[in-house]
Amino acid sequence: MKVLVTGGAGYIGSTICSALEDHGHTPIILDSLVTGKKEFVTNRVFYHADITDKSTLKKIFSEHPEISHTIHCAALIIVPESVKNPYEYYKENVGKSNELFKILSDLKCSNIVFSSSASIYDTVSGFKAEENSPLNPLSPYAKTKYMMEIILNDFSHAYPDFKAISLRYFNPIGADPNLRSGMHIKNPSHVLAKLIETATGRNQVFQITGTNWPTRDGSGIRDYIHVWDLALAHVRAVENFSKIFSQSKNNFQVINIGSGKGVTVKELLKAFENVYQAKINTIETLPRPGDVAGAFASCDKANELLNWKTSLSIEDAIKDSLRWNEKYLKLFS
Ligand SMILES: NC(=O)c1ccc[n+]([C@@H]2O[C@H](COP(=O)([O-])OP(=O)(O)OC[C@H]3O[C@@H](n4cnc5c(N)ncnc54)[C@H](O)[C@@H]3O)[C@@H](O)[C@H]2O)c1
Repeated sequence: MKVLVTGGAGYIGSTICSALEDHGHTPIILDSLVTGKKEFVTNRVFYHADITDKSTLKKIFSEHPEISHTIHCAALIIVPESVKNPYEYYKENVGKSNELFKILSDLKCSNIVFSSSASIYDTVSGFKAEENSPLNPLSPYAKTKYMMEIILNDFSHAYPDFKAISLRYFNPIGADPNLRSGMHIKNPSHVLAKLIETATGRNQVFQITGTNWPTRDGSGIRDYIHVWDLALAHVRAVENFSKIFSQSKNNFQVINIGSGKGVTVKELLKAFENVYQAKINTIETLPRPGDVAGAFASCDKANELLNWKTSLSIEDAIKDSLRWNEKYLKLFS
């Protein structure tokens, strides 16, 4: 299969491209490199353009008429930046995706797998989020994901043959186990990056932000998923796409992509110390503005429709992140 991957020069998109290749498929990448890395598209079919560039999209589909699906990862993704500059996020994520989906529909290439986010869920009692759990996106970033799902749902009702699967990612961590790509942001704010920064001396102390949440140890709970498992879910989504829609009248499907296990910040810290074989300097602080207790995924729908579940552990993700971090510092600093 040939698959168009928007944002294929980014952290998740590039890992999806590796997983597609490892399963005998050919990724065709469309990326503006606004945040992505040209190093991640080496030896791959790559079109350097914005997702709304109609002439490039026409060229892509005339040069690769066999493209069967589009995996749409391209987006701006920094939550605090979206709070400071919501206009930019609604323009880049919502406005541009709306355009892209219409161009794909007009080109009759509208089998779409979309990168959504579990950040659109409301806090669920017991922390387990089902696909039909209540939604309450808080940041402008999360709201853009919510709006894009609404657009996809409406398009799937309005335009013949328009079909979409929205994959709601929980908390991706780790790197491609073969180290072809990984996290590339200079100062990432997510918890594993902060642990690595503290362990390697680039940060003085690891902050456990919030210790009074109603979780088993008071720290926040998340569903960490190895980015390789996440990438494999996309391979399963394109491979099972026709089957999924042949069994359902609904041309828009939402699927949680997580491990199904909640891990607290303190448990992640312990796992990190075990893998790294050293104690990490920590301090307990108040939650940051906008923090939530967290959630983990109900994965029954992913098991059923994609025949997929995670196979890698958080220890695997920690090891691969540490190995990638060494390579990243050599490649990009
Ligand atoms: N990383 C996470 O924790 C996480 C969690 C949930 C969902 N997601 C979603 O997964 C997707 C990929 O995230 P990521 O972590 O790989 O981010 P990333 O920043 O590494 O990748 C995004 C890619 O999209 C490209 N891009 C952005 N706007 C573009 C445009 N208008 N035209 C063409 N290319 C454009 C960037 O250059 C970059 O290569 C995003 O949609 C994100 O919202 C990420």
